[in-house]
Amino acid sequence: MASSTTCSIAAAANQPRRILVTSALPYANGAIHLGHLVEYIQTDIWVRFQKLRGHECYYVCADDAHGTAIMLKAEELGLTPEALIERVNAEHRADFASFLIEFDNYHSTHAPENRALSETIYRRLRANGHIATRSVTQPYDPEKGLFLADRYIKGNCPRCKAPDQYGDNCEACGATYSPTELLDARSVISGATPVLLESIHYFFTLPAFTDFLKAWTRAGHVAEEIANKLSEWLDGGLQEWDISRDAPYFGFEIPDAPGKYFYVWLDAPIGYMASFKNLCARNKLDFDAFWKRDSTAELYHFIGKDIVNFHALFWPAMLESAGFRTPDKICVHGFLTVNGKKMSKSRGTFINARAYLDQLNPEYLRYYFAAKLSAGIDDLDLNLDDFTQRVNSDLVGKLVNIASRCARFIGDGKGGVLATELAEPELWQRALGIADSVAAHYESREFGKAMREIMAIADAANEYIATQEPWKLAKQPGREADVLGICSLGINLFRILMLYLKPVLPRMAQQAEQFLNDELRWDGAIAPLLGHRIAAFTPLMQRVEKKQIDAMLAASAAEPPAAVSPAVTETGSPTMEPLAAQIDFDDFTKLDLRIARIVAARAVEGSDKLLQLTLDLGGETRTVFSGIRASYRPEDLEGRLTVMVANLAPRKMRFGLSEGMVLAAGDDNGIYLLAPDSGAQPGQRVT
Ligand code: 2FM
Ligand code: ZN
Repeated sequence: MASSTTCSIAAAANQPRRILVTSALPYANGAIHLGHLVEYIQTDIWVRFQKLRGHECYYVCADDAHGTAIMLKAEELGLTPEALIERVNAEHRADFASFLIEFDNYHSTHAPENRALSETIYRRLRANGHIATRSVTQPYDPEKGLFLADRYIKGNCPRCKAPDQYGDNCEACGATYSPTELLDARSVISGATPVLLESIHYFFTLPAFTDFLKAWTRAGHVAEEIANKLSEWLDGGLQEWDISRDAPYFGFEIPDAPGKYFYVWLDAPIGYMASFKNLCARNKLDFDAFWKRDSTAELYHFIGKDIVNFHALFWPAMLESAGFRTPDKICVHGFLTVNGKKMSKSRGTFINARAYLDQLNPEYLRYYFAAKLSAGIDDLDLNLDDFTQRVNSDLVGKLVNIASRCARFIGDGKGGVLATELAEPELWQRALGIADSVAAHYESREFGKAMREIMAIADAANEYIATQEPWKLAKQPGREADVLGICSLGINLFRILMLYLKPVLPRMAQQAEQFLNDELRWDGAIAPLLGHRIAAFTPLMQRVEKKQIDAMLAASAAEPPAAVSPAVTETGSPTMEPLAAQIDFDDFTKLDLRIARIVAARAVEGSDKLLQLTLDLGGETRTVFSGIRASYRPEDLEGRLTVMVANLAPRKMRFGLSEGMVLAAGDDNGIYLLAPDSGAQPGQRVT
């Protein structure tokens, strides 16, 4: 009976869909960490599932390359913003590829397609009367020549007087205020006192879209809990959205507005379109078919719960005004906690993608996240003991175990032909029977539910093998056919489980395909492998070891805070920072370099970079603030000799007067204080 070995496939699989999928664009000034990976793994699983079902699905992403933070980061590193974003782009691509995140295109918002699309959209908004201009008064750093966002201003809380609070709220007493109310306010960038300055800003008239958004947010594009949150904003009255920033700014200049730039969040979502446009040019796809107003293609954005307003208010309103289609779904997830707490550097739980990959298999994390993901916005906890236990139990103990216990009884144990009949059709039927439900769970992003159903079949398969004990039967003469039958069913159960898990474990699925000598397909009926030759079994996955987790945590705790690694050439070797302009001998002799002994060192309260050093120059004592805190504990420095610039003019810093500078080599990998050979004495001149 045909229905005993095949199943009807979900209707959706019969009707090919065209789907464009995005994940949020990571900023181009930091490394990818496990918090980011919740989203990319979630999206990648969903996309792989759609492709497996035979749909035409494209997954695009890009680096979010604009804004003040990236401009300042580049400056700090002595790079142009273009050089910084190029370097970070290469790192991001490598990290994603290592986690088996398979984008159809990974682009950058600093790209010609994005400039063109941002200008087009802006011009259309303006033509529709949806751009307003007005003067805005904002804090300005007169030394740096830069308008200051709230996070670039610190001072004393106007309510409780706590020092070193940011421009918008006090971490000590919880007060919220405007930066102009801060006491003793100063620019985080230069230390200068901000002044108030007026300039013209450009606004997107969001309130004009209130009715449109009220309907749109209740039309199934976001989950109900998100729609409820959005209603609070919609009912409270929307504000016009400030989409311009004044020069200097790393971004795109606004058409007909010299010195005014698009705010990074204006061109970031347009980056989704730009990345797809770039893919279309390469692969001869029809961009308009996906983006025109009446498009039948589907558009899905996967994002974190912190950026819902940008995606479910500003973005659909902009698209609506500009005459493009709006998204079908905004898929929102919660944040990652590690061992129940916010990721923390000092606990070693702020884990970068690389620190994980140096120790652990990416598929462990893909499975663990899948097992814990739902369509909701609850935070997801990576409990490292649970992670170890679950991966070892489910993937190694259950899944791989089925294949390894059965493979040795097929043929000579190095490959052979499976039985021509199913030993226990009911068990196969049971495994086949979850296909539609697993597919529905993938579709609705209830991956945890899918994993539970899949693992229940893995349990049933292991129970069957344990009850049948083929290893005992194999010792009894004349039972060869029974052993082959039992183990062939075992292999078939392993195969269908690997098929269900293919979106989550793509590399393991590929290895399973080699072993099974068969492509795992889910775009039609699933039939068992009967009378089919399989290859030799090779181990598919190792157990997670506690020492790997410990090594990862230790490496994460020791990592320097800067997220960008030193320059790397295409061949992978570090490059030297470009040399500074040549100086003549007279310039050199102006420097008075001296040996100094560090007699005292202490952390500077309110600064995560600086140490305050008391230096003995052989009779004279100096205080120097030095940005070496990331690499040195104060107590380890006391008593050491180093080299200082002794004739540098004293510099007033916000923590006190710095009377010189100690010399250190360094980059984002670490800081290395210079030290003389033994025998040098404090005060000696360095020539
Ligand atoms: O929050 C962030 O990390 C942003 N870089 C996300 C941008 S998503 C999109 F709109 F581009
Ligand atoms: Zn306060």
